[in-house]
Amino acid sequence: MVIKPSLRTLGLACLGSLQIASAFYLPGVAPQDYAPGNNVPLYVNSLTPLSNQQVKSVISYDYYYDRFHFCRPENGPQKQSESLGSVLFGDRIFTSPFQLSMAKNETCKLLCHVKSIPKEDAAFINERIIDNYAVNMVVDGLPAAHENLDKNTGEIYYNIGFDLGYVDGKTPSLNNHYDINIYYHERSSTKFRVIGVVVKPSSKTTQLDTKGQPICDKTNHGLYLKADGTDSVVYTYSTIWHPSSTAWATRWDSYLHILDPSIHWFSLVNSIVIVLFLTGMVAMILLRALHKDISRYNAVEAQVNIRYRAVINKRICLEDVQEDYGWKLVHGDVFRPPSHPMLLAVAVGSGAQLIAMTALTLVFAILGFLSPSNRGSLATVTVVFFMVFSCISGFTSARLYKMNGGEQWKLNIILNATLFPGIIIGFLFGLNFFLIGSHSSGAVPFGTMMAILGLWALISLPLSTAGSYYGLRKPRIEQPVRTNQIPRQIPDQPTYLRSLPSIFMGGILPFGAIFIELYYIMNSIWFHRIYYGIGFLFLVFGVLILTCSQVTILMCYFHLCNEDYHWSWRAFLTSGAAGFYVFLYSILYYLTKLDINSITSTVLYFGYSTLISVLLTILTGSIGYLACLLFLRKIFGSIKVD
Ligand SMILES: *[C@@H]1O[C@H](CO)[C@@H](O)[C@H](O)[C@H]1NC(C)=O
Repeated sequence: MVIKPSLRTLGLACLGSLQIASAFYLPGVAPQDYAPGNNVPLYVNSLTPLSNQQVKSVISYDYYYDRFHFCRPENGPQKQSESLGSVLFGDRIFTSPFQLSMAKNETCKLLCHVKSIPKEDAAFINERIIDNYAVNMVVDGLPAAHENLDKNTGEIYYNIGFDLGYVDGKTPSLNNHYDINIYYHERSSTKFRVIGVVVKPSSKTTQLDTKGQPICDKTNHGLYLKADGTDSVVYTYSTIWHPSSTAWATRWDSYLHILDPSIHWFSLVNSIVIVLFLTGMVAMILLRALHKDISRYNAVEAQVNIRYRAVINKRICLEDVQEDYGWKLVHGDVFRPPSHPMLLAVAVGSGAQLIAMTALTLVFAILGFLSPSNRGSLATVTVVFFMVFSCISGFTSARLYKMNGGEQWKLNIILNATLFPGIIIGFLFGLNFFLIGSHSSGAVPFGTMMAILGLWALISLPLSTAGSYYGLRKPRIEQPVRTNQIPRQIPDQPTYLRSLPSIFMGGILPFGAIFIELYYIMNSIWFHRIYYGIGFLFLVFGVLILTCSQVTILMCYFHLCNEDYHWSWRAFLTSGAAGFYVFLYSILYYLTKLDINSITSTVLYFGYSTLISVLLTILTGSIGYLACLLFLRKIFGSIKVD
């Protein structure tokens, strides 16, 4: 049997796997009702660097990592199952020994008494306190937060996590008492809902009385771990339940507080100014100049034809009928296949995949499917879309490869399915070794890695192959003008049009359009802040596509006017240089915003930054290449060439 995939079946396959994936991964978040006195489970999550302090480390630790000596539940901590995205982004959720009863105030309950902490472990805890680590807890799907004051508006907002300890002068103190403030909304006398969790930790030298109960004293504070092997810690907590009128549906609002909205608007205005500027340039140069060029070329052509016919009639041979100039001169070379057509096709194919993935994820996010209450859903959906859109990658890559006269179609199919997924997975696996080496909980568990490989083999690989197969079966894309046998000599170019200067000049504009928003994205990645500006991000993505294509088209036009027809790779790299600038920016961010002093953290930071920059280069590069290709097909399609 011969399988003949058509575009429709391919599309259906894509849609189908999308639907399965979303049905599988997007459970609706339903509110949970508790009757007064009901047990409200409290889960613990990994320890991360605290969100609103200097970041000194990028490593997270399991709550139950031995060296912390935190209290464990009686029958051992149970791991909670989580979505793929949640695991990938470092959530490790376990049960805890805390006992919370809905709407029941309790003070000074004993969690456990840690009789002795070995020297090295106490020193380890002290170092983590100095590195501003935060404890993370989850109650009814809400992360425990600490309160912050917005100095501009006087509003209180929440930041995820609370201090593991604090540093007083030079001595680190461990927070061993937690005031767990839970805000609840009363729907009816038996239906209470959790709408906010704020933990105020403190450090106390609590002792136990003869009955083994803690003696909580409001006045004593400051528990220093001396790290001499004699340290003992009494962990206690109080639960304070506050009635609130906030509805369950709006409970995330205090977490999503926008600190300074004007900066977001400023970033948007900045992007729009750049877009307007570029659009103006494109409109002026391309539309006017091109229009003039095209009508002039065609007029000359008509004239030449008339003269030529007249000449033939008179049987006189006229040699110099060539009157071409400007970009039209290169019509016989402009669609000459570039060097390394395979790599280009595979890169642009993967770029198309990334573009589709980003666009659809952002649409889903804007529609509100991926709210932070759906833990890890954004990451999960992104991964699934990446896998599913392999079909686009295969198709695009095959079409471009065939267009550029490539003949090793088997290699194209294989490379397309393996090269970029391989680079990404290889990178993640490599960084994982560092995480494992540093005992970080951020290391992706072996099972999850296998799950990712499985997803790739089951979804990505077949879809990519099907896409390639279908793309290769389609007839070759015909170019509007024929390519000459003998390549034209390229004249010397002015400095600013040489490859490197023009590429780096071109990359600045797309980067300039996104760099302010980039600052927020970096903050949310490295400071564990929830990213709240999805709407802004969506606009910024649109702006990125516009600037990338406009810049590349402009540069391409200038080059062709100077009779330089090697545009393919240059178009890719011109807009792709934005990724390089993002990498430079991440170095700047490292030097100014972060205060990392461990090698492992540094390696991880630059590892992830490199990965992000590479992905962005591929994404923006493909936008540039595709825009330029369309542009050239358009302009060379509109002139007459004999
Ligand atoms: C718990 O204590 C707080 C503060 O003292 C008080 O405002 C609140 O009403 C109490 N909650 C209940 C359910 O009694």
